[in-house]
Amino acid sequence: MTFIPIQEILAGKHEGEHVSIRGWIYRKRESKKTIFMLIRDATGIIQVIVKEGTQAWKEAEKITIESSSSLEGTVKTDKRAPGGYEISIEKMAIIGLAERFPISKDLSEEFLRDVRHLWLRSRKMNLVMRTRSEVLRLTHKFFRERGFIEISPPMFITSACEGGSTLFHAKYFDRDLYLTQSAQLYSEILIYSLEKIYTCAPSFRAEKSRTIRHLTEYWHVEPEWAFADMKDVMQIEEDLVSYVCQNVAQRCKSELEELEVNPEKLLKAKPPFPRIDYKEAIERLQRKGFGLKWGEDLGYDEEKSLAEEFGEPFFVYDYPKEIKAFYCKTYRDRPKIAMSVDMLVPRIGELTTGGAREDDKDELIRRIEESGLRVEDYEWYIDMRRYGTVPHAGFGLGVERLLMWLLDLDNIIDTIPFPRTIRRSFP
Ligand code: 4AD
Ligand code: MG
Repeated sequence: MTFIPIQEILAGKHEGEHVSIRGWIYRKRESKKTIFMLIRDATGIIQVIVKEGTQAWKEAEKITIESSSSLEGTVKTDKRAPGGYEISIEKMAIIGLAERFPISKDLSEEFLRDVRHLWLRSRKMNLVMRTRSEVLRLTHKFFRERGFIEISPPMFITSACEGGSTLFHAKYFDRDLYLTQSAQLYSEILIYSLEKIYTCAPSFRAEKSRTIRHLTEYWHVEPEWAFADMKDVMQIEEDLVSYVCQNVAQRCKSELEELEVNPEKLLKAKPPFPRIDYKEAIERLQRKGFGLKWGEDLGYDEEKSLAEEFGEPFFVYDYPKEIKAFYCKTYRDRPKIAMSVDMLVPRIGELTTGGAREDDKDELIRRIEESGLRVEDYEWYIDMRRYGTVPHAGFGLGVERLLMWLLDLDNIIDTIPFPRTIRRSFP
């Protein structure tokens, strides 16, 4: 027997036909002679009606919320039914009878997080996961179409990329290792062979604070390419974000609609994105009463406030080198300034960090020492500057932050099936 996806029926392709569907019971309402149910499958939700006296009646009486079932009946239009179609059921079989489902209406966020394994069946999660898959597909497509080769970075690493304070320690037989914070240092190795590469892989951060934009395990998109500078970084970043926005607006139309996301914001995201340097960011913030001085890093409040002014994605570039990582290249005529750029978006703040990498061996060694790191931990990284060094650049984008912005989600944990935070590593 062929089972028809519910979405096809809602699209009007089977009106008047006898069809079979299968899925789970989403809602059930009984009156004396009829049982109304909403059935959900991966593609949609449809109303079905079971009348007394049919074979289906006994099964429908027994069936409980979230039971799985297969059903047969005739499709008709019905203006009152959600989606405009209804199936009048003649035959029905219970596949798996569910016990009393613990999730009903009006439950606390906290409870929903405890029963994440069940909450993932919700319509909201279904829609977010579909959009997530599309965002990932588009990201891969974007880089491949531009000749970037995907590489697979290691997860166990020996030395920090983004500072020791967020490193996860891992016991590795009789040695001590860490979980990767970024593929970058390894990606830099591969450009000497492939020139243009990218990764889409997990990064781990021992983030000790609870915020709406931090996970301890997140998916990190990181391209790296040879013969590139700051200008190239900003251009690829805005092209990527715009490409994802335009395509999501088109291809995820129904998901956006159901999630009540206005696609206007996505359609508006077109290059060139506005850009200001760090100095101007500080001045703007000081004018707004922030007590921030040159040399200090922007925090969440500062980023959010700046982003509110712009109301769209924008860049802040040329940061003081002290607040950026050791690998950032500095301007030869302005040694205090790092060629580093962040993209910020409204409500969330930082979406990406990128820039040019120090390609001079001696300067890199100086920066490693200056940052309080051990040169011997970075010997292989320094080798890249010994054997045919090139100017190169790259950036990192957090997939979950992008989704949070795209879909107007309140918290980053709703963008990933199994969020890991300081308090949650279950289920
Ligand atoms: O700014 P970050 O730390 O930069 C790097 O890791 C560079 N090595 C990237 C590169 O140049 N290849 O992280 C990059 C992005 C951030 O802008 C943010 O979007 C995301 O990763 N990110 C997080 N997302 C969720 N939870 C966290 N704890 C995150 N930490 C960073
Ligand atoms: Mg950053």
